[in-house]
Amino acid sequence: MQTTIKLLITFVSTALLTSQAFTASPKPAAANNGMVVASEKIAAEIGLEQLKSGGNAIDAAIATAAALNVTEGYSSGMGGGCFVLVYWAETDEVYVIDGRERAPLKADRDLYVDKNTGEVIGGLSTTGVTAAGTPGQPAALEKIHKRWGSSPWAELFAPAIALADTGFDISRTYALRLLYTREKLIQFPSSREVFFPPGDTLPYGFGDRLIQNDLAGFLQNLSDKGVDWFYNSDFADKLVDFVKQNNGYLQENDMQSYEAVERQPIHGNFRGYDIYSMPPPSSGGIHVVQILEMLEPFNLSYWGAGSSETIHLLAETMKRAFADRSFYLGDPDHVDVPIAGLLDQDYLDRQRSTMKPYQASTIQGHGKLPGSESSQTTHFSIIDKDGNMVAMTSTINTSFGSAVVVPGWGLLLNNQMDDFSTQPGVPNYYGLVGSEANAIDAGKRPLSSMSPTIVLKDGKPTGILGSPGGPRIITTVLQTFLNIVEFGMDVQEAVDFPRVHHQWKPDVIFIEQGIPVDVLANLMAKGHEVYQTGTWSSAQCIWVDQDSGLITGGTDSRSEGKAAGY
Ligand code: GLY
Repeated sequence: MQTTIKLLITFVSTALLTSQAFTASPKPAAANNGMVVASEKIAAEIGLEQLKSGGNAIDAAIATAAALNVTEGYSSGMGGGCFVLVYWAETDEVYVIDGRERAPLKADRDLYVDKNTGEVIGGLSTTGVTAAGTPGQPAALEKIHKRWGSSPWAELFAPAIALADTGFDISRTYALRLLYTREKLIQFPSSREVFFPPGDTLPYGFGDRLIQNDLAGFLQNLSDKGVDWFYNSDFADKLVDFVKQNNGYLQENDMQSYEAVERQPIHGNFRGYDIYSMPPPSSGGIHVVQILEMLEPFNLSYWGAGSSETIHLLAETMKRAFADRSFYLGDPDHVDVPIAGLLDQDYLDRQRSTMKPYQASTIQGHGKLPGSESSQTTHFSIIDKDGNMVAMTSTINTSFGSAVVVPGWGLLLNNQMDDFSTQPGVPNYYGLVGSEANAIDAGKRPLSSMSPTIVLKDGKPTGILGSPGGPRIITTVLQTFLNIVEFGMDVQEAVDFPRVHHQWKPDVIFIEQGIPVDVLANLMAKGHEVYQTGTWSSAQCIWVDQDSGLITGGTDSRSEGKAAGY
């Protein structure tokens, strides 16, 4: 009986949560000094407290990331990876720190292929320790703290440790994720111990208090001993022993040799706005910029947001970008990614010229370059009183990652290995197909779609955008930006507006609820296959009014976040 009630409450609250996305948007949050926008309220408030107590955007980012490890551990945490974009006002530069997981050093391209059948062994890259790459988030946080942080490292972890220790009430979103991932989590005793009441086969539900004492201990050690403790100590040894006992691939030297890497941002321009986004090993920045630049000559605002003509043009540009993604994109430290060619104006002009205004096209594959080629994850956006900005997208990949909690430490391990093409042509969890460029290799970073993005206008801090959602991250960031710049929506309307998505394969436009049925009929008349589905992604965006300097924030109504400013 109790079980039925628990399920009922969760499903009803989920229905309410989903429908919330398509009621009128509330007013955006507004502030004059600083703001943190994140997909989970408590973490956003912890970030805001850092800003108010004198910390800068980087300090607030570390405090928010540590808190999200506790309150939204199904999406991100120290057992996963992240990308961080920093706009540092003093130098007027955008910097990129890559804390993506790395494939184990003993991995090769056939890691998940059955030697006898030549087929991919289902599940190995998605569930259990075999799915885990070397975590990168601790190294990335340390790197940004050493370079730009101003508050003591330990101060940034204290609120997260307290939260893990005393617990928090499980939100609707969290409860739903637990239910969806129940069958994976229950397989692992260490995960069952954290996420299920003793002896119960259903996980904790909406409103239950989740106390994570082991995670508190883990974060306390990271706070006291620093990141070297994570990669190079008895903790790393115990982690590796556990992985080895369970037939995983991580070894001591994977942990010892991990480094977060600084990279150059992808830069593009649309209607006078300078867009800085994530370079490879993410595909995000390249494709956001490719699509915007293919769209720029079209007068989208004439057709309007959500019209069939706008959606047609979005779908046509998206499918061209995703066809390129599947062929050219991979870890730039292992394969040659032709960034300049993919962003070459003549190339994009030629790609655009193959589009027809009133007819869907079929794309056989990637374009020919000049001279050559869950909603999981979490994003937060931060600006401080000095105009420093952080866009950070962080992930353990799918909900609850590998579903394995490291015994005694409460830490969920990622399943980021599934972002590789386990075999060219075999789709991953997100239905993405890849090629050689994203084949597994020792120490290689799997291709990502995470697209933390920073926007400047006339050199001034203007926008911070990002979202979870696998490949839908790219199209979510794109549409949020267009909703503001092209369609004149405020930042809250921009994150709430129904979205569309096309990723080349399958050749279908995915359309959220809220787009009227006559629009769908018009798209079908143009030759598109359309599939109307539930909601996705969770955009977290800050936009600064250039005249007044007012900071506005929009947290996606599809999730339970907060735009917290002062
Ligand atoms: N794991 C999702 C991404 O990195 O795109």
